[in-house]
Amino acid sequence: MAKTKVDYVCQACGGITTRWQGRCPECDEWNTIVEETRTDEGGHARASIVKDAAPVPITDSMREVPERMHTGLLEVDRVLGGGIVPGSLTLVGGDPGIGKSTLMLQVGHYLAEHAGQVLYVSGEESFDQTRMRGDRLGAMSDNLLLLTETSIGVIRDQIGKAKYKAVVIDSIQSVYTSNLSAVPGSVGQVRECANEFLRIAKGTNTPIFLVGHVTKDGTIAGPRVLEHLVDTVLYFEGEGKQALRILRGVKNRFGSTNEIGVFEMTDRGLQEVENPSALFLNERPTNISGSVVIPAIEGTRPLLVEVQALVSESHLSSPRRTVTGINPNRVSLILAVLEKRSGYQFSDKDVFVNVAGGVRLDEPAADLAVALALVSSLLDVPIPSSLCAFGELGLAGEVRAVDRARSRVSEASKFGFGTCILPTGCAADCEAQSVELFTAPEVGSAIEMALPR
Ligand code: TYD
Ligand code: MG
Repeated sequence: MAKTKVDYVCQACGGITTRWQGRCPECDEWNTIVEETRTDEGGHARASIVKDAAPVPITDSMREVPERMHTGLLEVDRVLGGGIVPGSLTLVGGDPGIGKSTLMLQVGHYLAEHAGQVLYVSGEESFDQTRMRGDRLGAMSDNLLLLTETSIGVIRDQIGKAKYKAVVIDSIQSVYTSNLSAVPGSVGQVRECANEFLRIAKGTNTPIFLVGHVTKDGTIAGPRVLEHLVDTVLYFEGEGKQALRILRGVKNRFGSTNEIGVFEMTDRGLQEVENPSALFLNERPTNISGSVVIPAIEGTRPLLVEVQALVSESHLSSPRRTVTGINPNRVSLILAVLEKRSGYQFSDKDVFVNVAGGVRLDEPAADLAVALALVSSLLDVPIPSSLCAFGELGLAGEVRAVDRARSRVSEASKFGFGTCILPTGCAADCEAQSVELFTAPEVGSAIEMALPR
């Protein structure tokens, strides 16, 4: 007989409590706990994820090594660790409108043309909407089958009927199971459905992609609670209005994480950007103060990015601090260090800092470049365009070592940079490259090297 059970589930963090509370004891959010009634029918929810489970020696050579399928987009293949692994469950998260459906339709089309039948389940857009999009992208194939459906039972039956090479669920928030009373998109539904897709993927050896919407802070019910469950988590990012899109791997059971793929959104879908550093640098002004390049690390890949600062006379009682692409608190700290340790005055100036190309620099290694750009603009002295810099600033004005110094310097050398200012602690790693290295123990000496007066 079907049993009914009541859970109280936090819609922010997915935590489960035994009774309703105003505040979630796990994440401290208010008013996020919702009652969810669960009906377990015949206990299938706890069924094994693989058929005929029996212990097998790890050395068993009779088992074939699964062959990865290519997606037709090298940038996607790299982020996945070399292609799609059969039976894998992949979450593709991102803001609404960023291009997740476009990406999955392009990948689905390539697989349909080169591997076999692909099922694209759309719970958000009608058949005609998806077909029109496919038409525009040139993603039409007889092997690409569309299903407009949101009930997991129906989707499961459809997947069972044919041997699909891949299945795309667009989106996981639109799918529901009738075992739960909660609305589609709630934490309980999303988690339950994702669990079911995990079983289907492993049981049928079909790779499944789950598309999931997530907001910037990740508080919306959904993708964040699925990260531990799926094999691979990819986030698709970018500034909505700019054409640049970055696909970032944050978890991967089949390859290295933090890999990125760079795309440009065009009127005919997503195009790969083979040489992102060149893209980020191609509109760079020369001989203008306030601009400097940092060899950043995005995932495992070094990327040259331009940091710009503009420091101007302020007529406001509290001068402006406008920052995009970097944490504003980090910029405040750098300004304070420059005032206190090097004697540059910014308190009566408006300060604008921007990272070109819509890239986000989250690493402290960007500190030194930001400091140099600020002082360069304040003094109105350009930094030589063949110079790049990286390093973390400490509160005493010291320049601290950062990781992956060698790949940063190699990327700079590949793009013809002549000099690189870097932390003393990183220099030993980076020798024997064509870039001249200047080590800076503290921010003052870095400024002297970059801006000789
Ligand atoms: P979409 O894939 O629908 O985003 P998501 O599934 O993540 O919500 O993409 C939405 C945006 O992409 C939309 O604003 C239009 C734009 N776009 C293009 O610029 N070119 C194209 O070829 C396509 C299909 C979409
Ligand atoms: Mg979509």
